[in-house]
Amino acid sequence: MDTMKNIVLIGFMGVGKGSVAREIVKHSSYIALDTDDLIESMENKKVKKIFSQNGEEYFRKIEKSVAEWLEKSVKNTLISTGGGFYKVKNLKKIGTIVLLDSPFEKIIERIQKHPNAVAKLKKRPLLSDMKAAKQLYKQRRPEYLSLADVVIDVTDKTALECTKEILKKVKKHV
Ligand code: S3P
Repeated sequence: MDTMKNIVLIGFMGVGKGSVAREIVKHSSYIALDTDDLIESMENKKVKKIFSQNGEEYFRKIEKSVAEWLEKSVKNTLISTGGGFYKVKNLKKIGTIVLLDSPFEKIIERIQKHPNAVAKLKKRPLLSDMKAAKQLYKQRRPEYLSLADVVIDVTDKTALECTKEILKKVKKHV
């Protein structure tokens, strides 16, 4: 089989990168990796604990080393990322960058509707203060947009609908 360029899902916390990644895997021959999962297994600690015990700066350093490894060693893979992973310098070298985009209020609504809403909010240290989270969204959104090869408006769409759109659009970027 020909080598497929990696797909890298970026976007704000809670926008649905994990759900979309799982759906893409069901409907394609990509395998999936998640940068937060990789970091948690490297550190043998949950992201929340890394933030509280080692600090955000330490977490960002690990993201950088994960990014270097992804660029060098990973192919044919759908990579979902933490909401701040996009800041790594080599992002564009890892694969086709797909932004899952939605307004801040819709993202929060999506999390709050989830049966596991409390856990979803609790595990994300940067969502503990909604005012600060909204500021972060405002600051990040133009940066996400400028890095994206493909932008998918995920508002009120199912993971399957997003998957179909993504698979169609990334073909043009192979
Ligand atoms: C972060 C997003 C989180 C996780 C960490 C920091 C961020 O991932 O990497 O809490 O800076 O936006 P999700 O986007 O999967 O919530």
